[in-house]
Amino acid sequence: MPATVILGTQWGDEGKGKITDLYSKTADVVVRYQGGNNAGHTIVVDGERFALSLIPSGVLYPTVTPVIGNGTVIDPAVLIEEMDELSGRGIDPTRLRISANAHVIMPYHRKMDAILERFLGQQQIGTTKRGIGPAYVDKYSRSGIRIQDLFDPKIFREKLEVNLKDKNRQLQKVYNQLPLDIDEIYDEYLVYADRIQRYVTDTSLLIWQAIRDGQDVLFEGAQGTLLDIDHGTYPFVTSSNPTAGGATTGSGIGPRDIDTVIGVAKAYISRVGTGPFPTELHDEIGERLVEIGGEYGVVTGRRRRCGWLDGVALKYAARVNGLSEIALTKLDVLSHFDTLKIAIAYDSLGERYEEFPRQQRVLYDCAPVYEEHEGWSTDITAVREYDDLPKAAQRYVERVEELAGVPVTSVGVGPDREATLMRTG
Ligand code: GDP
Ligand code: IMO
Ligand code: MG
Repeated sequence: MPATVILGTQWGDEGKGKITDLYSKTADVVVRYQGGNNAGHTIVVDGERFALSLIPSGVLYPTVTPVIGNGTVIDPAVLIEEMDELSGRGIDPTRLRISANAHVIMPYHRKMDAILERFLGQQQIGTTKRGIGPAYVDKYSRSGIRIQDLFDPKIFREKLEVNLKDKNRQLQKVYNQLPLDIDEIYDEYLVYADRIQRYVTDTSLLIWQAIRDGQDVLFEGAQGTLLDIDHGTYPFVTSSNPTAGGATTGSGIGPRDIDTVIGVAKAYISRVGTGPFPTELHDEIGERLVEIGGEYGVVTGRRRRCGWLDGVALKYAARVNGLSEIALTKLDVLSHFDTLKIAIAYDSLGERYEEFPRQQRVLYDCAPVYEEHEGWSTDITAVREYDDLPKAAQRYVERVEELAGVPVTSVGVGPDREATLMRTG
């Protein structure tokens, strides 16, 4: 599989980091194509935990070239901190390559993110407050500062002046805040520029060349399908395209170069932040999913809302991403429940929806139509072959693939690198 996209099928935190790490063993290049340090990807190797927010999960393998593509937004301070932390833990991050066209998250983006959320009050999105949305706003309004601008002090200063004039006016006049100081930002970012310049290159060309040379290239999505700016539960979404199309625009290759699209799905579902969530559980079962599944955000530490697997949303994710297969994660968490449920449709005002509804309203007022599955009530964390799973667990997996219309090719039974059962049949 020379070019493979690995992406989230839900509202993020499906276990993309772990799956990307797994496939990175045989990969040559791993590319992040959208988002920024709103992502938190956890990888556990021999009990040691790595949390990555910006650097692709492939970085743990010395043979992989990690790439941050043009579709991302980069907070250079976070990037440098992450590189330093990896170095401190014996991982060499200097193979990293960064797109010259990626956009830069500036201090005013972080500030605006926090202020806008405060102003939204009850309607707030529950963003990670990392400046992601405001940075993409500037990208699309064509006033953004790109990584390459940092290396020409004159151009950088000019762009910063134009931006800051506008942002300071907003901060002072609209939001009643103190203005930001241009010299402080300018000096701070030139130091960052000096640190990262050697890693910056034409990543589109690098990826194209790798594919032409027959190398294995992975595209690691952040967030998930239901957080996609076009296909997600707008406006409770992130400001980029985590879906498969984003892998091409966000890295500068054509769709014909993608061979495989792996959708990562948790065996149940979770969401951080606000927005509709048909299968959310407000009861003791939801509580237990949070505790047993360790469902607390990697970036913000927020408790994730949890619920039963949503088969309607999964079928939708299979469609909008053109999934070739599914990696099902955290099946072990369901071992603790006697009866399991999967939503196969939504019921709203007497109407049954088997496809993900076009009108967002339905997601708020619907009742999920559940089918019940018997649990297996045995610990499966030590299982290493799919055929050794309890029959009830196998039936659950097979029902997931039936509902999604896409084969489940791997099943996660624990956080560690080894705890994934590959399934070929
Ligand atoms: P990502 O954002 O999609 O990379 O996912 P996160 O890393 O934010 O959240 C997934 C969490 O589940 C992490 O703590 C992983 O270590 C953990 N995890 C991944 N796969 C499994 C699994 O199969 N079983 C269990 N118990 N934990 C898993
Ligand atoms: P990974 O890659 C889960 C959510 C935020 C908020 C919304 C918008 O770890 O799966 P943003 O800061 O992006 O403007 O916030 O999106 N969100 C995530 N939820 N996992 C993530 O990333 C997320 N990245 C953003 O909680 O609801
Ligand atoms: Mg995460």
